[in-house]
Amino acid sequence: MEEFSTIASLRARLAKERATGRTIGLVATMGSLHAGHLSLVDAARQSSDCVILSAFVNPLQFGPHEDFARYPRDPVRDRDLAAARGVDVLFTPSAAEMYGAGSDVRVVAGEVGSRLEGAVRPGHFDGVLTVVAKLFNIIAPDIAFFGQKDIQQVILVRRMIRELDFAVRLTVVPIQREPDGLALSSRNTYLSPTERASALALSRALRAVAAEWRDGETDAGVLRARMEEILHAEPGVVVDYVVIVEPERLAPVTRAVAGIIVAVAALVGRTRLIDNVILGEAYA
Ligand code: PAF
Repeated sequence: MEEFSTIASLRARLAKERATGRTIGLVATMGSLHAGHLSLVDAARQSSDCVILSAFVNPLQFGPHEDFARYPRDPVRDRDLAAARGVDVLFTPSAAEMYGAGSDVRVVAGEVGSRLEGAVRPGHFDGVLTVVAKLFNIIAPDIAFFGQKDIQQVILVRRMIRELDFAVRLTVVPIQREPDGLALSSRNTYLSPTERASALALSRALRAVAAEWRDGETDAGVLRARMEEILHAEPGVVVDYVVIVEPERLAPVTRAVAGIIVAVAALVGRTRLIDNVILGEAYA
C-alpha cells in the first residue's frame, strides 16, 4: 500500500492508473476504521482495480460545539487495517492541504440537507458535500462506496452526483452490525458499557418495526408509534427523531412500501447515534 498526503503527489500516482485503463474505487472515511469501513473496502476491492481510501477528519462538517477535537483518531491502526484489507492507495491529507489558508466556497446541500441530521447539525451536510466534491475532483474515481448507515449522506451524495454531473457511480453498502445488532460507528467508542446496552434499543426498535412491516402493517403512523414505544421504554435513550420517509427528498410518508426508510437518531449519554432500515431490504 502506498500513502500520500499531498494532492499533487496523489494525482501523479493516479494518473498512472488511469493511463493503463484501470478503474479507481474510492472509500472516503474520517479514519478510525472499523468493520463497517472495511466492508466498503471489500466492496471496492471486488469491483475496482485500484482501491483508494481517504482518511481525513473534515473540520467543515463539525459544528462549533461538536466533537471535532475529540473525534477518535488512530492513524497507525488505520494504516495497518487498510493495508491488511487490500487498499492500494491511502490518502491522508492535512486540513491545510485540503483547505489551504482559508476556504469560503461550499457545496450547499439544500432543503434535503436541512432535514433530520441537518436540522440539529446546521451546515453539516454542506461540509460533507464540499469535502466529497473535493475528493471526487482530486481522485476522479470511477466508483465511490458509501455506507447505508449514514443514509441522509448517501441520498445527498447521490443528488450531488446527479445534479452537479460528477462522472462517478455510487455503490451503497449495507449497514454492518455487531452480533447484538448495534450498528458499527466510530462514535461507539464513546459509549460506556451501560450506554452501549441502552444503545441496543435503536436496532431493537428498527428490527421490530421491519418485522411488523413484513407481517403486513403498512400504516406509517402505527409503525412509528411502535418504534417510539420501544425507544421510550429504554431510560438511557433520549430520542431526537423517528421518521418514516421516502428515499428521494426524505419527505414523510403515510403508507410504508418497499424502499421506504425508517430512520432514528437518539442521544445515549452524550453520544448521538443514528441508525436506519430500508423496508424490503435485508436487515443484518
Ligand atoms: O462518512 C464519513 O465518514 C464522512 O462524512 C465523509 C463521507 C468521509 C466525509 O468527510
